[in-house]
Amino acid sequence: MTESTAKTNETVAPSEGFVAQARVASKEAYEALWRQSIEDPTTFWQEQTKDLVFRTPWTAFSDGVPPYSEGEIPGPDGAAPMTFFPGATLNLTESCLDRHLTTPARTRAALIFEGEPGDTRTLTYFELHRETVRLAAALADLGVQAGDRVAIYMGMVPEAAIAMLACARLGATHTVVFGGFSSDALRDRINDCGAKVLLTQDGAWRRGHAVPLKDMADTALLETPTIEKVVVLARIGAERCHSHLKPGRDIDWHDLVSRVPSPKSIERAIRPAAFDAEHPLFVLYTSGSTGKPKGVLHTTAGYLAGVHVTSKYVFDLREGDLYFCTADVGWITGHSYLVYGPLSCGASILLYEGAPNFPDWGRFWSVIERHGVSILYTAPTAIRAFMRQGEEWPNRYDLSSLRLLGSVGEPINPEAWLWYHRTIGAERCPIVDTWWQTETGSIMLTTLPGAVAAKPGATGLPLFGVEMTIADDEGALHDRGAANGKLVIKRPWPSMARTLWNDNVRYGETYWKAIPGRYFTGDGARRDEDGYFWVTGRIDDVLNVSGHRIGTAEIESALVSHSAVAEAAAVGRPDEMKGQALVVFVTLKEGKQAGPVLKNELAAHIDREIGKFARPDEIRFTDALPKTRSGKIMRRLLKDVAAGTVRANQDTSTLEDLGVLAKLQAED
Ligand code: WT7
Repeated sequence: MTESTAKTNETVAPSEGFVAQARVASKEAYEALWRQSIEDPTTFWQEQTKDLVFRTPWTAFSDGVPPYSEGEIPGPDGAAPMTFFPGATLNLTESCLDRHLTTPARTRAALIFEGEPGDTRTLTYFELHRETVRLAAALADLGVQAGDRVAIYMGMVPEAAIAMLACARLGATHTVVFGGFSSDALRDRINDCGAKVLLTQDGAWRRGHAVPLKDMADTALLETPTIEKVVVLARIGAERCHSHLKPGRDIDWHDLVSRVPSPKSIERAIRPAAFDAEHPLFVLYTSGSTGKPKGVLHTTAGYLAGVHVTSKYVFDLREGDLYFCTADVGWITGHSYLVYGPLSCGASILLYEGAPNFPDWGRFWSVIERHGVSILYTAPTAIRAFMRQGEEWPNRYDLSSLRLLGSVGEPINPEAWLWYHRTIGAERCPIVDTWWQTETGSIMLTTLPGAVAAKPGATGLPLFGVEMTIADDEGALHDRGAANGKLVIKRPWPSMARTLWNDNVRYGETYWKAIPGRYFTGDGARRDEDGYFWVTGRIDDVLNVSGHRIGTAEIESALVSHSAVAEAAAVGRPDEMKGQALVVFVTLKEGKQAGPVLKNELAAHIDREIGKFARPDEIRFTDALPKTRSGKIMRRLLKDVAAGTVRANQDTSTLEDLGVLAKLQAED
């Protein structure tokens, strides 16, 4: 987003039709509810979680008395400062599945699947429950127990959601690894959390090709000592995917679930155990500012409460809604707003397997028309790509079933916002721009539809239980009319990450130390006079490329692991389509030849180390990297060079080698 467009302050009020049926129908009503969530969280959460199933109900909102102590720094080992709903026990899947079996939702679609080749499948709540129970029983027979880690490396198929739910039912902690990650990335994630079982599939359809997930998994499995069993779903078929089942280790998914489970496992799956509120639900790896990905840990009750309440209010989910979230299950959006949140509300979810532009740019609109989607949740990068293709594509389809649109993943520029509003939403559908992160578990900022007017380009106001603020360079907090600063959350909230897997210290350091005792998001933002937050993007060493979170240090360590590379620096360059493009500067070892051949080799190396989605947009060879006297790479300067905005009279006095800058600029 450019500074000039970011300053637009136009407000777009929700349509009368939407307000008439809204759960929260005015700004005052939103403010009253928000105030209650802060001042009397126990009453707020008690009322808002009454549809959820607790085996032992909770009485206290948190273990802190009073709920939050000002400026508290997480425990000495860096662990989360507090727990939520202490004493409660639950099996999360009962809120997502079992509770709907005694209501009309039983025979309603829980999940409508559309495969990329055009095949479709519907699972009612009854069927989704049955499939989850079957898989849970089968996994229990394979030896999966509460507390075990189970890795899921799958594409967008119903079984991916079933796998997550089956793990949750057994109390096994799942770690879903996005299917776009390479073998090496999968291996590292499995090893970091010590997963015992891997669930995968032969291949996944993407733009008419099969992504060979099982082949990639086999390579990873050469170096994953903790994996005992691998369950393989046949999605593509043997003619196109030639992976083999390894005897003793691999089991065909359908064979597994069609076996008769042991009585003990049936019992465990049908009448599942209840777990403590803080039982680890899943670990999801995300990129941080150092090389190693972070295993963000979410626990049970607080996470469920967060995704349930936000799904209900932000997406206004109701009976009869068909909700289409285009995010992959491999990311947090897929966890919170494709699976757990919507199912906890009894909504019908639409799961689409493939690419948005396959076989053509009409695919999403055709899905919406054919299935009657009422809520669409997608990313600005997709909206901009559709925008570029022209409105002829959406105009060919009947999109009148839509009633609400959502955006997530990166700032949405006002142009894309307006296009989404007019061309897709026919000015009838409110747009909720939702700001949150893997670590926050659920949406933190948005404009509650029907209650709060939107401002194209601004994300909005804090949700329930969220106290958001801006910290200036001195660490002082500014609640209103704040200039650009660090986006900070003042106090803990139920769905926050509790720690990083096996790394409490890093958790404390990363999130709770920059502004002592407050949660630092890593984002920059300002807050206008109306209280709206305008998020500008990451201010740490993390990039957001097409909504994908990429750590510069991860890219750099991948590059320096190549035999030709001496040093590497990765930076972001503003990009109209992708938000940010990834530019890398590379110096070579003695005797290595810069050129197109090596460029291709380095790109392929990133594919292997991380995944194709992390491929640099530009690779630049240079003799040396500009560094400060203390030896730190001058990223700011490299960013300017990458963007082509570096000033001729730039103060380069701290540069070790003044010639480096000139060379970088001249090369092209
Ligand atoms: C980062 C989190 C949880 C959503 C998927 C990405 C950026 C996310 C917005 C938004 C501006 C946004 C932030 C954040 N971001 N949503 N609506 N407006 N920026 O989750 O991979 O954990 O990335 O995405 O920079 O820190 P993630």
